[in-house]
Amino acid sequence: MSKNETKDEITITDHRNGKTFTFKLSNGNVKASDLEKIKDSQGNPLRSYDPAYMNTVNCTSSISYIDGDKGILEYRGIPIETLSAKSNFVETAYLLLYGSLPSKNQLSYFNNKLVNHTYIHTDLEKIIKNFRYDAHPMGMLGATISALSTLHPEANPSLRGEKIYKNSPFLNKQIYRLLGTLPTISAYCYRHRIGKPFNQPRNDLGYIENFLYMLDYLNDSKFSSHPVLVKALDILFMLHAEHELNCSTSAVRHLASSGVDVYSCIAGGIFALYGPKHGGANEAVLRMLEEIKTKENIDSYIKDVKAKKRVLFGFGHRVYKSYDPRAKIVKSLADEVFAVLGKEPLIELAVELEKIALTDEYFISKKLYPNVDFYTGVIYKAMGFPTDMFPVLFAIPRTAGWLAHFLEFFNDPENKS
Ligand code: CMC
Repeated sequence: MSKNETKDEITITDHRNGKTFTFKLSNGNVKASDLEKIKDSQGNPLRSYDPAYMNTVNCTSSISYIDGDKGILEYRGIPIETLSAKSNFVETAYLLLYGSLPSKNQLSYFNNKLVNHTYIHTDLEKIIKNFRYDAHPMGMLGATISALSTLHPEANPSLRGEKIYKNSPFLNKQIYRLLGTLPTISAYCYRHRIGKPFNQPRNDLGYIENFLYMLDYLNDSKFSSHPVLVKALDILFMLHAEHELNCSTSAVRHLASSGVDVYSCIAGGIFALYGPKHGGANEAVLRMLEEIKTKENIDSYIKDVKAKKRVLFGFGHRVYKSYDPRAKIVKSLADEVFAVLGKEPLIELAVELEKIALTDEYFISKKLYPNVDFYTGVIYKAMGFPTDMFPVLFAIPRTAGWLAHFLEFFNDPENKS
């Protein structure tokens, strides 16, 4: 071997007994099962200890790629900037699920399948109507999605001793149903909260337009959604569709490993996303801005953050140690939305807060930058969504990513079956 040649392996010396072990690396990582071969004097195997999953990889995934230092996010090799400029949510969902952009025919087939699954069982409507008038929409959404498993028991082939295979017509049907009914269920949760009758889905409308129709229609024969707002929500859905192995996606894969049905897996993902450190952060950002109220109060809030009494929601990320590429797109989208709806006053507070934080040594030294949730809340507020609906607007598109991981999981030969 020449001087500069390297081997894809690692040698570990156990200084307790002087033994050395050489392990092959897998994609540059040491396999935890190899560490088991290193034993103490009582024969106890060595394990890696990582309570917060700070440095643990549990699968090889080709769905998305993130370079946290450079601020890069790609879905199936396509930069998020390209997709948000040229694609739409339905096409992006297809890309995530099946690995490449669809042809015209494939897209039309996929779109029709989603459209044909927008109606929900009337029993499900009764379930939604039984929640309290002030129930949090994320709680309602997760519970209703998990209730879908009781309406479709065939979605759990494992219980019959059968295996689940990618691209099986059976699995695709559950995918169409989940992506198709999510906007309907979410809109019904919203309508239940405001005490208005449910609007049946309109299959002549696009995915986003239909969602806005089910949320807002009040018997106005001239009802239509503003195209700029439809496009803005479409872009926000694309930005939220997938983000590697975060808390909720890992939860979905973990649940899938038990062989439980896909509805229970997605419900688990929704509940993981609900947390304010994850998808619930967009709601927390807005509540924070409302609490700060004026620019004069920013300094004292920042002081509390630095004293660890408060959290600056919408800042920091487990993976990005530079500006979240999604936050850049969201910030520029805000201007387009405000041009239609008028400026949401909280935006000026958010811009000032960002400016102060980005020049403060505390945030600079810890590499804390705005994440995707920092500006989404002000856009959603301007669009008229109640604050507690914000995480729901994250959960609908993220279901595409979760389902892609669900499919990938069942085709991964490295999984323990
Ligand atoms: N405000 C104040 N301090 C912070 C923040 C914040 N938002 N985020 C991190 N820190 C501090 C943290 O206290 C720690 O300080 P020290 O070194 O003194 O102990 C340091 O920065 C490193 O923090 P960490 O918790 O080790 O960083 P992490 O990468 O594990 O945390 C995070 C990531 C998202 C949980 C955290 O940044 C956070 O809680 N942010 C606010 C919630 C938020 O906006 N979440 C949305 C994430 S993006 C949407 C999504 O994908 O879900």
